[in-house]
Amino acid sequence: MKQYHFPQIDSTNDFAKELLKTESEVMVTADFQYKGRGRSSREWVGDYGNNIYFSYGIRHDFIPVFDNIILYQIAGCLAVKSLLIEQTFSNVFKLKYPNDIMALDSIGIYKKISGVLTEHSFVGSQCTNTVIGIGININQSEFADEIYHTATSLKILGYNLNIDLLNQKLETHLKYWLSKDPVSIFNIWVKELNIEGKMVKVIGSDDNWQIDSILDDGRLLAINQNNDEEKKIDNGDSIRYKIG
Ligand code: BTN
Repeated sequence: MKQYHFPQIDSTNDFAKELLKTESEVMVTADFQYKGRGRSSREWVGDYGNNIYFSYGIRHDFIPVFDNIILYQIAGCLAVKSLLIEQTFSNVFKLKYPNDIMALDSIGIYKKISGVLTEHSFVGSQCTNTVIGIGININQSEFADEIYHTATSLKILGYNLNIDLLNQKLETHLKYWLSKDPVSIFNIWVKELNIEGKMVKVIGSDDNWQIDSILDDGRLLAINQNNDEEKKIDNGDSIRYKIG
């Protein structure tokens, strides 16, 4: 596998996609992204040199791993969580649907420390490439007003860790989860998410919804508590619920 590191780049995910035109497996990291992307076309902005901006890309004609493509995002989220637990010796980290890793802060509130953006390329219905993009807030101590109350970093939590080392360890954790059997990784994710049975607010709906179960493709099956309507919630939907 080829590894690339840049002082700055538009987006490590975009560069990894570009590289997959000629490479079968790549890892791209950067000190800064000037066009970093998050879920639902949101921006992913962070300090220079203070965070992890990491992408791992594979071409499925060379390295087929999972048939069910949701498992790549799941592997990314579980890799971040296991890395953070290993490196901090603490278990204050939880997964939040669909792609966030949250950390419990000193006043008992869960805040976002990491997000995973998994992108696939298709030829017809065939998934040809996957890029797992991971951002983790490491040494950033201040955040923009809009996310000030909802974001945290390892530094804010009191940990002082080396970003280069974390990038290498993240690769190891990701590969560990990618090597897991599909059924067990999915079941571990369902257990870690702990969202079945919970009440959620779906942005754009005034009603209360209860999560019935998690479907094989990673969508949530929600039941409207007012009229029993069923709804399938996916990556693109925004929901609010209490984790923990
Ligand atoms: C999210 O929470 O919405 C996902 C954020 C993913 C950010 C990472 S940083 C590395 C990679 N490159 C990008 O442009 N985005 C992902």
